[in-house]
Amino acid sequence: QATTEIDLSKIAAGQAIKTSFRKQPLFVRNLTPAEIAAADAVPLSELRDPQSLEERTKGKKNWLITMGVCTHLGCVPLGAGEGENKGPFGGYFCPCHGSAYDTAARIRKGPAPTNLVVPDYAFSSDTTVTVG
Ligand code: FES
Repeated sequence: QATTEIDLSKIAAGQAIKTSFRKQPLFVRNLTPAEIAAADAVPLSELRDPQSLEERTKGKKNWLITMGVCTHLGCVPLGAGEGENKGPFGGYFCPCHGSAYDTAARIRKGPAPTNLVVPDYAFSSDTTVTVG
């Protein structure tokens, strides 16, 4: 299966890029300390799909790597690369039917049933990730 290499060195804190993995959109975000704190402040009991930022980022909490595919009906949410609308929870916002994701890309509002999917990935160096 094809893998995708991502150079993290050019993604500044607070920036999110849209790239692709196996022909689907992939979001890579360098979370700021404030965005990390916001995600960590949410009790898991408030979440529709309870997962901590820690487990969604393999412990490297500033690097949020997810598919850019809304788990409702598959639109590409805004907030990475194009469209600065991060939505009411500061992560990503799907304009199709209003699903709002937080700074851990967890579903917080709207019809999407689950968080944005975290693909398999591994850090091959401090600044390189191999997805897939
Ligand atoms: Fe995203 Fe429906 S496809 S809210």
